[in-house]
Amino acid sequence: TLLVLDNGSQYSHLITRRLRELNVYSEMLPCTTKLGDLAFKPKGIILSGGPYSVYDPIAPHVDPAFFELGVPILGVCYGLQEIAWRVGKENVVAGTEREYGHAIITAQRHNDHVDRLFKGLEDGMQVWMSHGDRLAALPEGFVTIATTTNSPFAGIAHKEKPVYGIQFHPEVSHTPRGTDLLRNFAIDICGAESNWSMPNFIDKEIARIRKLVGDKAQVLGAVSGGVDSTVAAQLMKTAIGDRFHAVLINNGVMRLDECTQVQQTLQQHLGINLTIVDGSELFLGRLKGVTEPERKRKIIGETFIDLFEEEAKRIEKEAENTPNAGKVEWFLQGTLYPDVIESLSFKGPSATIKTHHNVGGLPARMMNGQGLKLIEPLRELFKDEVRDLGRQLGIHDDLVMRHPFPGPGIAIRIIGEVTPERVEIARKADHIYISMIKEAGIYNEMSQAYAGLDTSKAVGVMGDNRVYGYIIILRAVTTTDFMTAEPYDFDHSLLKRIATRIVNEVHGVSRVTYDITSKPPGTIELE
Ligand code: XMP
Repeated sequence: TLLVLDNGSQYSHLITRRLRELNVYSEMLPCTTKLGDLAFKPKGIILSGGPYSVYDPIAPHVDPAFFELGVPILGVCYGLQEIAWRVGKENVVAGTEREYGHAIITAQRHNDHVDRLFKGLEDGMQVWMSHGDRLAALPEGFVTIATTTNSPFAGIAHKEKPVYGIQFHPEVSHTPRGTDLLRNFAIDICGAESNWSMPNFIDKEIARIRKLVGDKAQVLGAVSGGVDSTVAAQLMKTAIGDRFHAVLINNGVMRLDECTQVQQTLQQHLGINLTIVDGSELFLGRLKGVTEPERKRKIIGETFIDLFEEEAKRIEKEAENTPNAGKVEWFLQGTLYPDVIESLSFKGPSATIKTHHNVGGLPARMMNGQGLKLIEPLRELFKDEVRDLGRQLGIHDDLVMRHPFPGPGIAIRIIGEVTPERVEIARKADHIYISMIKEAGIYNEMSQAYAGLDTSKAVGVMGDNRVYGYIIILRAVTTTDFMTAEPYDFDHSLLKRIATRIVNEVHGVSRVTYDITSKPPGTIELE
């Protein structure tokens, strides 16, 4: 196991991701972790980047005991500065300007020991820089192993000890050979084993769930029909069988035939213990007259919780006097690594907290009101890894490759008030749109697509009459992280055929538009 000590950089989690690509297992812990807190002896340590200046009084510093362990250490950006600062406080200064962007490395070769980090990496290697502070001098006992035009100390290594530091970020995709550099460190220098695999992950996670939940408690899990919650549910079922209860709440703003499909997949195909709660009237009733986007989300989130609380009580009651009797103590969520990173990573006073999407603060109230504990088996994984995991668990490809669908559903795809009529229109249009995308074989080329509805009306001519109908907004984007996205390059003739079918077949629609806004400034959803 390698240890990644997180100094709070936005890229820290990518280090663990790259290591997994090398099949090397690593754990990331906040930089404030003490050596004595570790349950394992790391084979090597990577100190991540971070938003601080090492000389700032509030800056975090790693436990000096890690340096006494004798295992290899690689400092990245802030991590490099931390290494240099420990040797001599005068070694790190504020740069006159931030260096941000591409830089070209010139490696300095010395001897086999210090050259190991850049072994096989050619001069002229492109790297990504993002730093304000820089080294003013080479720390005592170190040599320079790489330079760039602006960074005379882009890479340093201790003359005898296996301690290395680099100013650039090997973990980001803008450093194309970054993974090779990390391989040199992890495998050649640390001697880490390259044996991490998805089946290992499954076994390890199932064992962890069993230990955590014990042999009495019950687990409630919200499922939506999306890949994350389905994969999480399948893992949970494998771990604890019938003490896991999946609940699908029909919030009245799901897609066409969604409930039936989820039932087929989870109950019939995967054999998961599933209850469907029909809350559609309750949700739509509470949404009546509401136009403010955040209010819509909040109402939906609150209503979800009300119904989950009822379900938890019902499950406990039903299990009384059966072998499964036990309290519902856990709440399962299919949260992924990019979502939890904020709660895992070291947060200092200046770090910004990303609000991550869940259904309107769902866990917070569940946790407080019910004393439920959160269980997140996918918290280490990225979307593509979850898909891989889903396949290994026997989930069919249609579901594994499904585009994400937000918890508040069609409600945030209708601009303005949500009414049953509008939901029906958006649902039908979406169904036509997605079916035609699938028929054209381009579904997997886009990351997310849907048809939304603008509630203002536009004129149209149908037969001999002027009609006023809603405007359907088609959206399709490509993205890897969902933080930024580009509109999908649609074939116009296909778009036109889709528009024709929607206007002809969905009563109440007079126009169809295609949203070509990138994110940012647009978002993927309409509200
Ligand atoms: P935006 O619209 O912010 O969406 O560009 C980015 C991704 O997040 C999804 N999304 C949500 N998912 N609850 C969810 O479960 C929400 O409230 C929510 N809002 C947006 C969206 O579908 C896209 O994949």
